[in-house]
Amino acid sequence: MRIGILNSGGDCPGLNAVIHGVTGAANQLGWEVIGFRDGFEGLLPPGDFMVLDRNRVQGIMKLGGTILGTVNKGNFAAKRGAGAVAEVAPETIEKAKTTLKLLEIGALVVVGGDGSLTTGLQLFNAGIPVIGVPKTIDNDLKATATTFGFDSAVTSVVDALDRLHTTAASHKRVFVLETMGRHAGWIALYGGIGGGANVILLPEIPFDFEKVAASIRERSAIGQHSTLIVVAEGAFPAGGLPEIEAAGGSGEDRLGGIGDIVMREIGRRTGKEVRCCTLGHLQRGGSPTSLDRILATRFGVMAVKLIAEGRFGRMVSYESYRVDSVPIEDAVSALKTVDPESEVVAAARAIGVCFGD
Ligand code: F6P
Repeated sequence: MRIGILNSGGDCPGLNAVIHGVTGAANQLGWEVIGFRDGFEGLLPPGDFMVLDRNRVQGIMKLGGTILGTVNKGNFAAKRGAGAVAEVAPETIEKAKTTLKLLEIGALVVVGGDGSLTTGLQLFNAGIPVIGVPKTIDNDLKATATTFGFDSAVTSVVDALDRLHTTAASHKRVFVLETMGRHAGWIALYGGIGGGANVILLPEIPFDFEKVAASIRERSAIGQHSTLIVVAEGAFPAGGLPEIEAAGGSGEDRLGGIGDIVMREIGRRTGKEVRCCTLGHLQRGGSPTSLDRILATRFGVMAVKLIAEGRFGRMVSYESYRVDSVPIEDAVSALKTVDPESEVVAAARAIGVCFGD
């Protein structure tokens, strides 16, 4: 048996741990593993790949990024903009099939988020035996309670807030920290709670600048002169932000900039000194946390188990502390976003966090 593995989309702490897990478990069964470079692009003839074995993957679990390289655009992009699905060209799928046939690959593990798993599903529907492994720092995939990479991203946000806290308190300033999270605010929510943010602004809860400003004035009135605001890149005020909505183009829109807008508006409305820090790709790079290493390893092992059982078209999932699997279709049908009525949002409100609503 020879299996292939590729990762696609934005890189994410824990990708190498999945590669390590898949290779280790497959080698134990006597299977060979081929790693395709640069996502699905590596499937284009003649195939761009490397042979993975225990020696090649030794020591990679702790490394950020991916030894296979990745792309979040290209010939196989199946999702553009907010959820719009594009069909991968049939001739491109045929090329991938040719490569897999020539290399005698019996199964393909696709490690990716919403867009890459949508491509994986299209390949499966075209007859390629695909197993999906959920990857995204955004934690926005349906049908799995969490994805690897999320904990590492949250840890970066908490670390940044810890640092901003001391400088903000020293100068009696307001600090805005802009995080990733285009349609789902999980990173901002969990990072904000863990890092003790006073205001958390999410794509799921449109905010009012005046309510945010009022909460800062209330804090000042009781002697709390510094405030930490976390804003997800996809958050927006209830009335909308025309200059951001207009920023389009091909592929996924590049977000970012809401932090500066919040900084200006809050400074103007409160008269306080406000600074903005955009965390950007710092929350995607670097070593995975131990939680993500373990989760990614378990995901890789489950992918091999699913192949051994011939259960293709399924994605590895995590629910109630157990690694399991679901049809890929269930994971990519819609994004998993923060429920404004959820217990975790209520808990944040209970300790005085303002969501600007
Ligand atoms: O989907 C993961 C993600 O990190 C988003 O949160 C972010 O908007 C996007 O990728 C950034 O992509 P790029 O690396 O192409 O700028």
